[in-house]
Amino acid sequence: MKIIEQIKQPIQNEMEFFEVKFKASMISKVSLLNRITHYIVKRKGKQMRPMFVFLVAKMVSNGNFKEKTYRGAATIELIHTATLVHDDVVDDSNRRRGFFSLNALWKNKIAVLVGDFLLSKGLLLSIDNDDFDILKHISIAVREMSEGELLQIEKARQLDITEDVYFDIIRKKTATLIAACTAIGASSVDADKDEVEKMRKFGEIIGIAFQIKDDLFDYGDDKIGKPIGIDIKEQKMTLPLIYTLNNCSKKEKKWLINSVKKYNQDKIRVKEVIAFVKENGGIDYSIKKMKEYQTKAFDILNTYPESPYKESLSTLVNYVIEREK
Ligand code: IPE
Ligand code: IPE
Ligand code: MG
Ligand code: MG
Repeated sequence: MKIIEQIKQPIQNEMEFFEVKFKASMISKVSLLNRITHYIVKRKGKQMRPMFVFLVAKMVSNGNFKEKTYRGAATIELIHTATLVHDDVVDDSNRRRGFFSLNALWKNKIAVLVGDFLLSKGLLLSIDNDDFDILKHISIAVREMSEGELLQIEKARQLDITEDVYFDIIRKKTATLIAACTAIGASSVDADKDEVEKMRKFGEIIGIAFQIKDDLFDYGDDKIGKPIGIDIKEQKMTLPLIYTLNNCSKKEKKWLINSVKKYNQDKIRVKEVIAFVKENGGIDYSIKKMKEYQTKAFDILNTYPESPYKESLSTLVNYVIEREK
């Protein structure tokens, strides 16, 4: 059985019903918008975030869940989709999920507006049902994601990013939404405040490992359905490069910085930078860090008794760092 199918097994019905709700939540009277959202729904992603919502809800409530859990999952996936649509504009990226990004097909102005539409639909799904606890987690995530993306741009301009700043960026731009998934999962089944916070932390830790993995893809040559080598091109310094910069000679450091600063559009030079990072342990170090977060996630998960939901969550945590796309 494929690993994803295995993870989904205890939440099979929930995931099917979620898809129906997710599709329905995007409907509009504007036909251009419907054509575009149809395109989005057809090329769905891994749907890891709704899986986190359902699995946490069921783990903390011994198999229970509520209508509200569905709304939480649909809200999150709407917000996630909105941020990807915007992210591809920001990163000037023309591929997503193995096909053209919205900005590549319909241009930036349409992608910006579609992203806003999806964001508003996500918020309204909570508002219309008085799910204010969900709304609070979501709003914090949306604020932090924008801050994270802007902090990343600020640091890309200055080229002076430290490891601490890198972790701050990825916590904000990526981990905060996965933290919202696990917090909302718990909150939707009326877990108490401490447990919601414990699950929020669990998601945040996973989210950090998730983004380290995503940044590692940029140094690989596998088919992941989106461009690779794009980070250096966008002057985005991620963990493998940051580590290498801090662990090489002055002369090499100057060459690296100069490459990112002036030769970031030069494909051969970018390849040389990638090779240098690999030879100097940047990849190995990042994998080591990612695994530290994996261990931290398991420390929290293992405070729960055995259940099919816990079992799936541990498979999902491992999948986050072992996945191939
Ligand atoms: C991509 O998230 C954006 C990041 C935070 C790196 P996913 O890898 O979960 O995207 P999809 O939904 O599966 O395409
Ligand atoms: C992740 O950022 C997207 C958001 C958190 C908004 P990236 O730009 O690193 O992600 P990909 O690689 O394009 O999916
Ligand atoms: Mg980006
Ligand atoms: Mg991007």
